[in-house]
Amino acid sequence: MATTTPLTPAFAARIEGIDAARASKADVAFIREALIAHCVIVLPGQALDGDQQADFAAKFGQLDSYSQMSGDYARGMRKDLLQVSNLGEDGKPVAAGDRRRLLDMGNRFWHTDASFKAVPAHLSMLYGITVTSEGGETQFADMRAAWDSLDPDRRELVEGLVAEHSSTTARRALGFDDFDATNPAITGRVTHDLVRVLPETGRKTLYLSAHADHIVGMPKPAGRMLLAELTEHATGPGNVYTHTWHQGDLVIWDNRCSMHRSCRYRADRETRHFRRASTTAPEFAARTGSDISVPAWKIEAAA
Ligand SMILES: [Fe+2]
Repeated sequence: MATTTPLTPAFAARIEGIDAARASKADVAFIREALIAHCVIVLPGQALDGDQQADFAAKFGQLDSYSQMSGDYARGMRKDLLQVSNLGEDGKPVAAGDRRRLLDMGNRFWHTDASFKAVPAHLSMLYGITVTSEGGETQFADMRAAWDSLDPDRRELVEGLVAEHSSTTARRALGFDDFDATNPAITGRVTHDLVRVLPETGRKTLYLSAHADHIVGMPKPAGRMLLAELTEHATGPGNVYTHTWHQGDLVIWDNRCSMHRSCRYRADRETRHFRRASTTAPEFAARTGSDISVPAWKIEAAA
């Protein structure tokens, strides 16, 4: 019999009594319901190989593919699994100056997985194979509450705005500028509404991410400042759950109503070796067409 224990009053919960490797239809339905209520779910004590993790994730929807991400980004064991790890090919932690380790620092910005894709991520499922003894937590922010707690004048301002997302935005913020311009998976840009409605509940949510580069139709400084202000609002201490990892944790989050980031740890001394699968959110697909205009009063209010 599965039990749910909330981890904060309105966000994130722990479910015990479900073995993800043998999840029944009833278990999947139970987790789906819990995700609608809590957005982030922790399933402790799991034992999953890659195939089992992918099979479990596929019970929730179409699996996202990482194969289009080539070069620096391609570290999948299968095309639908992503290795999140500080270990190199030789099984040892990669050095501090290693490009891969530096690129991975982008995960320390608040973000939503794959918001730079035309069909972004719905559920991400991260499995802790080897966890750190100190640091390396994952933090989650409730983007439903972020909308609910926004001042009415800010709500009026952001409703209807559209942000342009790119997989290079967070990496550019770190100082990288040498991207493969011939790879559209890396240099492509998509546009997503800033305010979304969750189909299951009708609740509104702020759709922010470190991958959001600017607001379409606004001067870039004004749009970027607005994105920074909204991110600061959304990630205030009362709106964040911090997950301290234990080996065997499977943490599932809904990217449509949460942002997350990983926390610093001593990557020279510790191993952090995780595996991720994600499902896609076709109902949150990017906008098509370029007929996006912003009323003058919004530009004035944001600038
Ligand atoms: Fe992420």
